[in-house]
Amino acid sequence: MQICVIGAGYVGLVTATCFAEMGNQVICVERDPQRVARLAQGEVPIYEPGLESMLRAQLASGQLSFSAQLNSGIRRAEIIFIAVGTPSGEDGSADLSHVLAVADELGERLEHACLIVDKSTVPVGTAERVEQRINAGLARRGKRVRVSVASNPEFLKEGSAVEDFMRPDRVIVGCEDERGRELLRRLYAPFLRNHDRLLCMGVRAAEFSKYAANAFLATKISFINEMAGICARLGVDIEEVRRGIGSDRRIGTHFIYAGCGYGGSCFPKDVKALIRTAEHEGIEPVILRAVEARNALQKTLLFQALREHFNGHLQGRVVALWGLAFKPGTDDLREAPSLVLLEALLIAGARVQACDPAATAAVAARYPEAVQSGQLVLSESPYAVTQGADALVLVTEWKQFRQPDFPRIRGAMRMPVLFDGRNIYEAEQLAELGFLYRGIGRPASGSCKASAA
Ligand SMILES: NC(=O)c1ccc[n+]([C@@H]2O[C@H](COP(=O)([O-])OP(=O)(O)OC[C@H]3O[C@@H](n4cnc5c(N)ncnc54)[C@H](O)[C@@H]3O)[C@@H](O)[C@H]2O)c1
Repeated sequence: MQICVIGAGYVGLVTATCFAEMGNQVICVERDPQRVARLAQGEVPIYEPGLESMLRAQLASGQLSFSAQLNSGIRRAEIIFIAVGTPSGEDGSADLSHVLAVADELGERLEHACLIVDKSTVPVGTAERVEQRINAGLARRGKRVRVSVASNPEFLKEGSAVEDFMRPDRVIVGCEDERGRELLRRLYAPFLRNHDRLLCMGVRAAEFSKYAANAFLATKISFINEMAGICARLGVDIEEVRRGIGSDRRIGTHFIYAGCGYGGSCFPKDVKALIRTAEHEGIEPVILRAVEARNALQKTLLFQALREHFNGHLQGRVVALWGLAFKPGTDDLREAPSLVLLEALLIAGARVQACDPAATAAVAARYPEAVQSGQLVLSESPYAVTQGADALVLVTEWKQFRQPDFPRIRGAMRMPVLFDGRNIYEAEQLAELGFLYRGIGRPASGSCKASAA
């Protein structure tokens, strides 16, 4: 099939590459010419496991190409996917300016009938708006063709995006016309060989499903985080509770890990946008507001714990941070809990030595003054950042941090204090190794003495 994907971000790039991998002819259109130039050389501007090798293979085979020109992308396309960003607007609702700008451009340039598909996360009614705008543009130019717009929200997870796209749990297709549904069914058939999980529904239901899915997952996280807070007061370990409740299949084991809050490009903005939608419809979003409020609190917990540990005096303290990206497997910093902690530490006068396998360049670009003054030191070595530290804080649970050489770390640190923002370590083991250990929703264990180092 001839496919055009508009937008070469996390979603557009993965979508374009995976469709090409399945034998389609794909042109990915991106408005940033520098990004296009890099991509055309096989240089992937984002960190996403498995993407670069697949993209290079498809570039070499000629199945995939990149362009900054919309015309060349859409000329022969049977299906055009819109995969541009929908960030939070000033009032928290989804900012549709990029999506609607694409609709206007399509109305000005399309010459033939084809299926347009919204892959971006957009509020209910957006496909109708996009369709009207494109068709109004076509009518203004005296074209007789008309397009229809379907919704095909994307559920990939950064960090395992290629795997998720190639083997989706389900594909949701919201499409009102039979021809469009058939086209999408054919396109996705190779991805759903083992289980036919293509769910067809109305366009509006498809649009809403994406928000409901993200809101539900965010709710699970905020729920367990609230339980963790109560556990901490009662001297109960949330990790035991998590195992206790997760074995109930009605609850399930996913998304019930207590931690220092969720971030990323999706949950925060999608919960916000759904709150605005509910308000607009006269519904008080009681649960969604609580989910958001709990998450905002959760992101401040590690700083509060550090401040408490140092009796309010963080000036001159050396704090090592492990993990900056909003989750493992990505370089994405959008809404990352690490940034809330990092900024609070810098303001409090601490020196921060931070390590992340993928996101240090992006953090350096965000805080150039702190890097220049030496208050923020960035490294890709987890051990280097523990040198002389008064505390180590695990923020993002990259695999590299799961089983470190703790005796070596203890030797490097000035004080062996570990704040585990994702509860990935064994409290007792760390106490035995001489660390003071604090998790989220877990009783503190161990005590610390200044290390010889
Ligand atoms: N990132 C995720 O994990 C994820 C997962 C599922 C759904 N989504 C949704 O998918 C959408 C895209 O997300 P993303 O993270 O890929 O965004 P992104 O910001 O990483 O990428 C968007 C890209 O679109 C380009 N763009 C904007 N306007 C354009 C135009 N007129 N023509 C061509 N290119 C244009 C931008 O330059 C940018 O490169 C959002 O609605 C998001 O909510 C994201």
